[in-house]
Amino acid sequence: MMRPFSQPEPAVNEAAAPPPAATPALAFAQLMQAHRSIRQYRPDPVDSAFIDRVLTQAWAGSSSSGNLNMVSVVKSFDAERRAHLCTLHAGQPMVRQAPLVLTFCADTYRTRQWLAQRDARPGFADFHSWHVGAFDAVILAQTTALALESHGLGICFMGTTMSSMRAIADFLALPPNCLPVTSLVVGWPDETPAQRDRLPPQAWIHEERYQAPTPQDIDTHYAQREQQGRERYLAMGPEMVAAWQQHGISSLAQYYTSPIKYDPDRLAENSAAIEAVLRERGFLAPG
Ligand SMILES: Cc1cc2nc3c(=O)[nH]c(=O)nc-3n(C[C@H](O)[C@H](O)[C@H](O)COP(=O)(O)O)c2cc1C
Repeated sequence: MMRPFSQPEPAVNEAAAPPPAATPALAFAQLMQAHRSIRQYRPDPVDSAFIDRVLTQAWAGSSSSGNLNMVSVVKSFDAERRAHLCTLHAGQPMVRQAPLVLTFCADTYRTRQWLAQRDARPGFADFHSWHVGAFDAVILAQTTALALESHGLGICFMGTTMSSMRAIADFLALPPNCLPVTSLVVGWPDETPAQRDRLPPQAWIHEERYQAPTPQDIDTHYAQREQQGRERYLAMGPEMVAAWQQHGISSLAQYYTSPIKYDPDRLAENSAAIEAVLRERGFLAPG
């Protein structure tokens, strides 16, 4: 069967396009094209009131399940508190270096308080509501990321929010039915990294029905990232080269599930810890 994207269209048809940034669509395409995760920041501060405005606009521009707005965002500017947060984020240096960390939380606590104060039937203390809050939190985080980038600020998502969920919740004094989902470090970029590849559209956009990839498709779709990713990791320095040798890693795929990247045993432990904290904080029935 023909693949739907044998000739992928460029994101912006430059020949037919009006002058740069002449339309909102083109300006938005350029903004997305300029996205890079930033891991080196200048020390210059970021204004708290400005961040409130960006967050408010981002939330107005994001969909919200049932318009329940079951999210909260905690701003961490204080350098000492960010230093502690850095340890909770596995020591990733940008948490300490960037002037601001935003922690996006799934929060049904406030909604439950509102229900109680209005003599409504209690609700939203279940696994479904966890997802409602978590999806809203991620949607808001991504809209905020683009909004911040439109102002020239840099961002990086912090996946370590999930693995340190309980410790971050305690540190930020989150109540029951409120847990961190993801975080953004925010600041003025001090690096200009190259754009990172994505899998080609043929690999992940399907026409009407899912088309399972053949072994040949996998070879084709992963060829570029296998080469570039391997080169990028091995260019990180002799320690990384030695680690690949020590663990007998000879390809990017082997690296990803090796003990030095996304170790399945560690992810299984993280998953159990997440399940436990969801029970503890009222999003799952006690086991
Ligand atoms: C949910 C999520 C969690 C992430 N966690 C981390 C992280 O903990 N540390 C990090 O350096 N980058 C993290 N990233 C950034 C990704 O590594 C980055 O988006 C990816 O490599 C593509 O690069 P780009 O954003 O520059 O295009 C995360 C991204 C997402 C979406």
